[in-house]
Amino acid sequence: MQELNIIGAGKLGRTLGRLALHCGRYRIQDCLARSLPSAQAAVDFIGSGQAGCQLDSLRPAALTLLSVPDDAIAPTAQALADSGVVRAGTVVFHASGAAEAELLAPLRAVGAQVASLHPAFSFADPARAVAQFAGTLCALEGDAAALPLLQDFAAAIGAQPFALAPGGKAAYHAALSVASNYLVTLTDIARQLALQGGVDEALLSALLGPLMQGSLANALSMGPQPALTGPIVRGDAATVARHLEVLPPDLQPVYRTLGERTVALAGVRLPEKARQTLLALLRD
Ligand SMILES: NC(=O)c1ccc[n+]([C@@H]2O[C@H](COP(=O)([O-])OP(=O)(O)OC[C@H]3O[C@@H](n4cnc5c(N)ncnc54)[C@H](OP(=O)(O)O)[C@@H]3O)[C@@H](O)[C@H]2O)c1
Repeated sequence: MQELNIIGAGKLGRTLGRLALHCGRYRIQDCLARSLPSAQAAVDFIGSGQAGCQLDSLRPAALTLLSVPDDAIAPTAQALADSGVVRAGTVVFHASGAAEAELLAPLRAVGAQVASLHPAFSFADPARAVAQFAGTLCALEGDAAALPLLQDFAAAIGAQPFALAPGGKAAYHAALSVASNYLVTLTDIARQLALQGGVDEALLSALLGPLMQGSLANALSMGPQPALTGPIVRGDAATVARHLEVLPPDLQPVYRTLGERTVALAGVRLPEKARQTLLALLRD
């Protein structure tokens, strides 16, 4: 049985704490928040542990989860290193999607192994998160010696761990942002254009939803290139030209950039002459 300390017992900390307790492989030791009532609420939710709000009250643990907000990770790591409570050879990890384990470098300097474990999951409500967490993919990166312990931890709480390349965290997080946020932005652009064309607002979801969902399902199952349909992959330059004539100025750059990217994606499906014509049009 390994001890787990949780510093920052908020939504993610509470969820992982309860999952760790329930899997029977970890003893929840100290649970810290900024205020004692919040730490106590976390301990009550998890069902085990000692509530606290002082870093220097921490007892040594094999694993320490630093689940404070992203901006607080580096200062908390520094304060934790300065407090002298972290034992050499133990593992300290954070759960940020964008930040590297390197943010915990001051703890490496006192002999800890550092890593990050990012669950690709939204922890809006810890009780629901506990129920729905099984099978969640968790990205791991950090010190080689820490990774086997965190792979075990992730698997024990029901996640599917996978390793990122060293230095890959920013690109990994950009991928998630493009996939989730930019998809929403594209939806907004498509809605704006449909409204411009005179589609009733009440019809927008029914019109765009099946197209978007079908294209996404095809791209995910077949791969992006075979899933591509529409004027660019057909080499239909006249249609692209008509789009460009009616697009408002603020949408021209994004349409042209994505159009060029779509020409590249179409690859061998697009004859060379049509490729040249489309690129000239999009770059005009
Ligand atoms: N929420 C998600 O869906 C999600 C998903 C993947 C990864 N993550 C990552 O998980 C980490 C925690 O996120 P969360 O959503 O669980 O945050 P949260 O619910 O806001 O909880 C943050 C916890 O840290 C404490 N805290 C806040 N500011 C602090 C500070 N300046 N110094 C020390 N402790 C502080 C809070 O104490 P009080 O309770 O006393 O306020 C709270 O216990 C972040 O790195 C985030 O990127 C979150």
